[in-house]
Amino acid sequence: MTANQLTADITSFNLVIFGGDGDLARRKIIPALYYRYTDKQLQVDFSLFCISRSSSDEKVFKKQLLEFIDGPDEIVNEFMKHVIFIHIPQNDVTTYEGLKKLLDKEANFQRIFYLSVPSSAFPEICDTLLASDLIKETSKVVLEKPLGHDLKSSIEINNVISKAFKESQIFRIDHYLGKETVQNLMVLRFANHLFERAWNAENIENIQITVAESIGVEKRGAFYDKTGALLDMVQNHLLQLLCLIAMEPPFSLLDPDAVRNEKLKVLKSLRPFTKEMARNEIVRGQYNRGTVDGKKLHSYLEDIDAYESDTETFVALKVHIDNWRWKNTPIYLRTGKRMKKRYSDIVINFKELPHNIFPDSKYPLRNKLIIRLQPEERIELVQLSKIPGPGGYRFKPISLKLDFIDSFKDRMPDAYERLIIDVIRGNQTLFMRHDELVAAWEWIESINKHWKKEAPLDLYESGSWGPGDAILDKNTQWQTH
Ligand code: BG6
Repeated sequence: MTANQLTADITSFNLVIFGGDGDLARRKIIPALYYRYTDKQLQVDFSLFCISRSSSDEKVFKKQLLEFIDGPDEIVNEFMKHVIFIHIPQNDVTTYEGLKKLLDKEANFQRIFYLSVPSSAFPEICDTLLASDLIKETSKVVLEKPLGHDLKSSIEINNVISKAFKESQIFRIDHYLGKETVQNLMVLRFANHLFERAWNAENIENIQITVAESIGVEKRGAFYDKTGALLDMVQNHLLQLLCLIAMEPPFSLLDPDAVRNEKLKVLKSLRPFTKEMARNEIVRGQYNRGTVDGKKLHSYLEDIDAYESDTETFVALKVHIDNWRWKNTPIYLRTGKRMKKRYSDIVINFKELPHNIFPDSKYPLRNKLIIRLQPEERIELVQLSKIPGPGGYRFKPISLKLDFIDSFKDRMPDAYERLIIDVIRGNQTLFMRHDELVAAWEWIESINKHWKKEAPLDLYESGSWGPGDAILDKNTQWQTH
């Protein structure tokens, strides 16, 4: 990878999406390409081959897709000419023949295979692509998470994929890394003198990473019940956020491995969970019935139509990074479905000043940096300020806010837009390397080993902030603002 590849021209391409009529493709992947197209970033020849396994109804597919594509008819119609629906009921060389004919017509286009299907299907698809002679030196493959359900299955899947594709052709996508504020985190840390100097255990008391969702499992019950919050959210999204927050400065941004090497070091420094840690430093929950905005909501079991399930829809963990920078600074990870409100943020709680010359202050003398990822994207520095007027020193915490929408008026692109363009250009910086994935799984295994026994499932009301004891330590309240 060279500097040129980061800004490499976009050349003609064919993108083949397995699971092309699935929820993710319709809601995220294809609309992302549409918005890049309307922004005139795709001024090349390209086709999107949407592969459906179960349905052969092109009309229904296109109708459902159009619900997520918004714009003037003329542009939408132009874009839709690039979308080709193909029904492939099973993975074998004969059924791939039609696809092969279409792709071979444009032999000089780059070929990208996007596997937006459960990872258990990856090996069969890759084997068939290989046997059908569809993979070229310049082809790429994009893999959706979670990759496997444990370390062993993830390694097995990877072994098959790596027979078909080299590591430099594999893009393991985590859409959190494409979010605008997450990108801005790198700029905040590595383009500003102020924060990086204080970014360590000496100055930071704790860090809290929260992804709260107000939705339940929706129509994904069958998938979700086999996955749970730990694998659906922590193993990938929250760990990736943690890596960006905790990593050392990479020597350059122009070399994707420079960033990935630093993230790997963080993953390898995570303290594995012991039995005692699992008992005291993990909360596991599952949503029960509840009411949100006056609307009565079902329990998780009702949502998935089952009598019992031990799957968690909420998890809170106290995480330790055993290295010089973070010794004794815990990082709290929390995520849950059916929370009171949808919001995600990273809160950096700085330490209290060593000596207090304002003994009457109601507030501890400390700062807090809030990096809000969603629903709105902003960075906020909370500091104490004097309330104007005589009568001694009376304080109030006030926030210095950088609100992206106010500062940059343009539409915020969806994370998938940036990531798919990176795939087309061949920039792997924001995609997980195999060794990162293995390190993440190794740590998750230490949780899996103990937690079902040591951290029993707590039910929580839908529309609440999770099980009552989700505050793992005092002073680490949910930042429910
Ligand atoms: C996905 C999970 O990866 O991320 C979903 O599978 C979750 O369960 C989603 O709802 C959250 O993404 P976002 O961008 O809406 O926070």
